[in-house]
Amino acid sequence: MDPIIAPSILNSDFAKLKTEIETVVPQVQWLHIDIMDGDFVPNISIGPCVAQAIRKSFNDVKLDCHLMTSEPSKWLKPLLGACNLFTFHYEAVGEDVGVAMDLCRSIRALGMKSSISIKPKTPLEKIYPLLDQDLLDGVLIMTVEPGFGGQSFMPEMLEKVKRLHQKYPNVTIEVDGGINPKTIRSCYDAGARMFVAGSAIFKHPDRTSAIENLLKPLRHEN
Ligand code: DX5
Ligand code: ZN
Repeated sequence: MDPIIAPSILNSDFAKLKTEIETVVPQVQWLHIDIMDGDFVPNISIGPCVAQAIRKSFNDVKLDCHLMTSEPSKWLKPLLGACNLFTFHYEAVGEDVGVAMDLCRSIRALGMKSSISIKPKTPLEKIYPLLDQDLLDGVLIMTVEPGFGGQSFMPEMLEKVKRLHQKYPNVTIEVDGGINPKTIRSCYDAGARMFVAGSAIFKHPDRTSAIENLLKPLRHEN
């Protein structure tokens, strides 16, 4: 599949969110929405009402909602109609894999794509039962500790991406945290195809160039 760049609006200027989004849409087909509750992560960002407002103003863009919240199932209905890809954290649903399985089924029953994310210290093997049951459209490998934009990419996470891609070649692998023109190619080579970029896009004065700078390394042969 072609690489997807999903700008993370967490790093945009919230005081002028609509104008900020207009600087990246329609160059990108996806926007990454970081929903944080101050409990699962030590930060609070935005919630479903903002996702719904974005949906109202931007019909065509797909919303990749990254739930960094405890009890992710609570936010399924409020995100209905706005969210296209619902990503919850493995660490938020506990060790009982049955809970995660039910959540994946609910996500799909509501017409969204289901994805799970794991924090840097969580072993990849924990999510194999969900993949074996074919309950996931995507997996988001965190390449920083979730909670804040602007952190440094953790190259040790590439090993997880590689192993996941080798074992489940059909699942879409997304990477999030510290993705920039220098780190994106290593993620692509490991098998990732969806790339979240926050500061690399929204801290750049020219968003068109910022997106192009991310795509350029993916076009070259090694
Ligand atoms: C971090 C969020 C990321 C963040 C990425 O917890 O999940 O989506 O916005 O920001 P950068 O690209 O600056 O690391
Ligand atoms: Zn994110």
